[in-house]
Amino acid sequence: MTLERIEKIEVDATAAIETAPGTAELEELRVRFLGRKAELTTILRGIAELPEAERAEVGAGANRVRKELESLLARRAAELDAAELESQLSSDTIDVTLPGAPARPAGHLHLITRTTRQIEDVMAGLGYRVIEGPEIEHDYYNFTALNHPPGHPARMLQDTFYVVPPGSSAPAPSRKSDRDAQSLPRSEPGGSVWVPDLLLRTHTSPVQVRAMEAQPPPIFVIVPGKVYRRDSDATHSPMFHQVEGLAIAEGITLADLQGTLEQMLRALFGAERQIRMRPHFFPFTEPSVEFDVSCFQCHGTGELSGGERCNLCKGQGWIEVGGAGMVDPNVLGFVEASGYDPERVQGFAFGMGVERMAMLRHGVPDLRRFFDNDVRMLEQFS
Ligand code: PHE
Repeated sequence: MTLERIEKIEVDATAAIETAPGTAELEELRVRFLGRKAELTTILRGIAELPEAERAEVGAGANRVRKELESLLARRAAELDAAELESQLSSDTIDVTLPGAPARPAGHLHLITRTTRQIEDVMAGLGYRVIEGPEIEHDYYNFTALNHPPGHPARMLQDTFYVVPPGSSAPAPSRKSDRDAQSLPRSEPGGSVWVPDLLLRTHTSPVQVRAMEAQPPPIFVIVPGKVYRRDSDATHSPMFHQVEGLAIAEGITLADLQGTLEQMLRALFGAERQIRMRPHFFPFTEPSVEFDVSCFQCHGTGELSGGERCNLCKGQGWIEVGGAGMVDPNVLGFVEASGYDPERVQGFAFGMGVERMAMLRHGVPDLRRFFDNDVRMLEQFS
């Protein structure tokens, strides 16, 4: 009889729901007893086909049981939810007194940055101020105000990256044929005359002029920065770093340059180092020198302990470091309006390559390795 079936469903379902061990099992029970294919659902759906006498009683009974099971399911679901939350809370405890996860290894400064900063530190100790200048520079600062005559080889396309403003057509240099003939500006067949003005600075020396324009003498500045030349091999990269020094005041002499370089290079390479200056030429210094430090590997002897030739200085006993000289009065003439009277003040400038210093000190054989961004290489210098 249908009523008995309903009662049996009620008893079975109640027992199952009340002892359901988890929310997943409870959901299965809901489907089993109240789902579309459940017996109770079939009974409710079939009421209209029952004999008239049974209809009211079966309908009322089935509906009552359905409501009762629904509320039982809801109550059991709430109980299980609470219990599951409770057990999660007690197993998921965080002990805030435990030490944190082990520190992840932090990165470190690039060897070029570290070398630059070491040079800056030494020079700051001598009273120099660290300043910077633009990497995209005007021809005026990079060459003209540094006393380069119009046809100077450094101005030519094969050595310098010029920046071509939008709308003008630049000559495409063919490296060989241009080497002797080309000086700038240059006119292009069928095109407008391209007068090169903007370039990637080829050295940090233009910042000498900018610094003097910005501040009257005395001036003592050090200028780290990137520079660009059309060069690429084991000891040259199209982008590299220099540090420039400039000291202008009354009565500064070449002897002061010698003493300053000695201080700087002894701080970087060791207190026993000697320095020497050799005559050279730069357009913006007069006289000009190249300066060397005594080799820190063979201690200036050119020989290693076993008697073989020192590979670092190639047996010379000296390592070339950079260029320097007394600032040419013609350069001061370009900044006379800022207080640099060449009759009253004078001084020195020097410049050196940072990669070269780092290569020497750490035995790096190829300059390009600094910029490959291979962390296995860079991590050696942490
Ligand atoms: N600017 C020169 C170069 O890049 C170096 C230099 C700097 C020489 C200052 C003299 C004075 O080669």
